[in-house]
Amino acid sequence: MTNSPAKLRDSGTVAASARIQAAITDTRSGTELSAGTIRALIDDFVAGHTADHQMAAWLATVACRGLSPDETFALTDAYVQGGERLRFPRGGRVVVDKHSTGGVADTVSLVVVPVVAACGVAVVKMSGGGLGFAGGTLDKLASIKGLRLDLGPAEVHEMIDRVGMCITGQNASLAPGDGATYALRDITATVESIPLIAASIMSKKVAVGADGLVLDVKTGPGALIPDVDRAIELAETMIGLAGRFGLRCRVVVTDMSEPLGSLVGNALEVREAIALLNGASVSRLSEVCRTVARLMLQSADPNLTGEAAEIAVTQALTSGAAFRHLREWVKAQGGDVRMVDEPDRLPSALHRTTVTARRSGWVHEVDPRRVGMAAVHTGAGRLTHNAELDYGAGVELLRRVGDRVDAGDPVAVLHAATENPKHAVRLLADAFTVGEEPCAPAPVIHRVLANTGRD
Ligand code: URA
Repeated sequence: MTNSPAKLRDSGTVAASARIQAAITDTRSGTELSAGTIRALIDDFVAGHTADHQMAAWLATVACRGLSPDETFALTDAYVQGGERLRFPRGGRVVVDKHSTGGVADTVSLVVVPVVAACGVAVVKMSGGGLGFAGGTLDKLASIKGLRLDLGPAEVHEMIDRVGMCITGQNASLAPGDGATYALRDITATVESIPLIAASIMSKKVAVGADGLVLDVKTGPGALIPDVDRAIELAETMIGLAGRFGLRCRVVVTDMSEPLGSLVGNALEVREAIALLNGASVSRLSEVCRTVARLMLQSADPNLTGEAAEIAVTQALTSGAAFRHLREWVKAQGGDVRMVDEPDRLPSALHRTTVTARRSGWVHEVDPRRVGMAAVHTGAGRLTHNAELDYGAGVELLRRVGDRVDAGDPVAVLHAATENPKHAVRLLADAFTVGEEPCAPAPVIHRVLANTGRD
């Protein structure tokens, strides 16, 4: 969205212009804005009464000076109130939602949504496409032929009733103020602000209207917020907001200092999720999946112990019930279920290029940003806004942090449409740092936080 000067002249925007200038001055000097003022700023902008450069100036001031907890709540509420809300019937099935702040080989949603649905708790999930080096659930699922990912509210309800789970694209009518301001933040380096991220994410979650929510906040070099203390601050801010909206919320802060799973790329990640649902284990990814699934069950039923939730998750996986839920869901949303039954039918790249260790020693680092960018350069992600994806492309990691390697050992394989794509190969080779000393991987779970929905 752009609010051009011509459009602004036509729509008589004197009051809106005065309002945002006063807001910029107040935020800069640390004077708290009222909830009414914040609501008016967002409504003015969505209505086209405020210029992009004025809103960008306020967002930049917020990114530098921050917002108080009341202002952050008011901004979240302004985003929510400006759009539609899904409503699940009170007294009906308990519905939970899950969100990740994004990372590389983060296939968690594709695994946990069917696991939790198989445990009898309904899940609604509105997902986005990939952003920069980080993949997006929507792009991954689009590698399944025919799968519909543009459901309207009535269809979301129907999927919840029929299969107990629904994954679809973000509905633009929910929190439109967030969509409009996010587009500006993206091009003005104002994404990385705790109150702005918290309001943006939580407005969409509140608008979805689930009974319980689990947030997976990533930290480390491959995360939106690399520093662990700031990631915990973001987690606390979002959990505080959830409490003020009466939403039961649990947050897990997880590590993104190396890619989470071993496959990066759209169809490749769907394959990895199917393998996990069929009983495979991928060390760091499996641990995060089990933790998130357990927290989702506990956010649906606060009296459920961690132990009981853990048992339910194990049963859903070992009995095949979670896999059957994925299958049923793909079918119900129009997808080609043969791709789930026989993952070799999923798109795959024509060429494989093996990347080898440059020296002997222990793997100290597998840089998630470089791995993510190598996948993007094979066509798994977008380098320009409207670029077409190559669903079969991506990266297969053969070695992880802590592994012993000898010079010349294969450490990763690039899957691409062309043979030996030089830039991607270089990025992938540079992602691996091998040192002389043994080295242990970072713990994958940093912190778990919870509210009761009544704070
Ligand atoms: N994801 C969102 O939805 N919003 C942000 O601000 C950052 C990540």
